[in-house]
Amino acid sequence: MLRVAIDGPGGTGKSTIAKAVASRLGLEYIDTGAMYRSIALKSIRLTVDPEDENAVVDMLSDTVIDFDDNKVFLDGEDVSGLIRTNEISMQASTISKLGPVRAKVDEVSKRLAATKNVVMEGRDIGTAVIPEAEVKIFMTADPAVRAKRRYDQLIEQGKSANLEEIKEEIEKRDYQDSHREINPLKQAEDAVFLDTSEMSIEENIDAVCDIIAAKTGAEA
Ligand code: DC
Repeated sequence: MLRVAIDGPGGTGKSTIAKAVASRLGLEYIDTGAMYRSIALKSIRLTVDPEDENAVVDMLSDTVIDFDDNKVFLDGEDVSGLIRTNEISMQASTISKLGPVRAKVDEVSKRLAATKNVVMEGRDIGTAVIPEAEVKIFMTADPAVRAKRRYDQLIEQGKSANLEEIKEEIEKRDYQDSHREINPLKQAEDAVFLDTSEMSIEENIDAVCDIIAAKTGAEA
């Protein structure tokens, strides 16, 4: 069994890196943040307050989340293209504080990790979802670097962006994700710390593959 757990704050490029590493090593890529994001999307669509636990539990009672073939499904609908907005990032961070939301995503994540060799990324994979993972990496980058990467990405997509506002949102989300009560973002004791502030995407992919190779003795 090979399970690679990658945790870290938002905007570190975990999705890009985890996806590339999974494809290079022939592993299944699982993006747990995408599942929190799709629950956030549903709450926005239904105008459910993400802080109102009873209302959220009610909504979850007829919600089906799945992740397959690099896509996230909300009640059978592929919502992968709809969940990458700033509004959904913040709503996902807020709604993910609730225990029943975490239980819902954990159930899917744990089921996938039990049956497949995976690269799974999120905030609590090495600490709570797969504490027995063979490889754990805590990936981070300076907030200013993460803000600039996000800014460049938005400009490249022809969207308007404000660097200062993006940095503030990143810091707010970091705070919220690392200070919640249940399974907050934190480095697992046995995780390898990787600061990617000065790395290109290629260097980052190589660094992760090197860590996996060193931990497993596998050729990566
Ligand atoms: O990784 P991401 O930016 O797509 O995650 C969106 C939000 O979902 C993040 O701000 C907090 C939450 N999340 C979480 O609480 N636990 C995870 N394992 C993954 C994401």
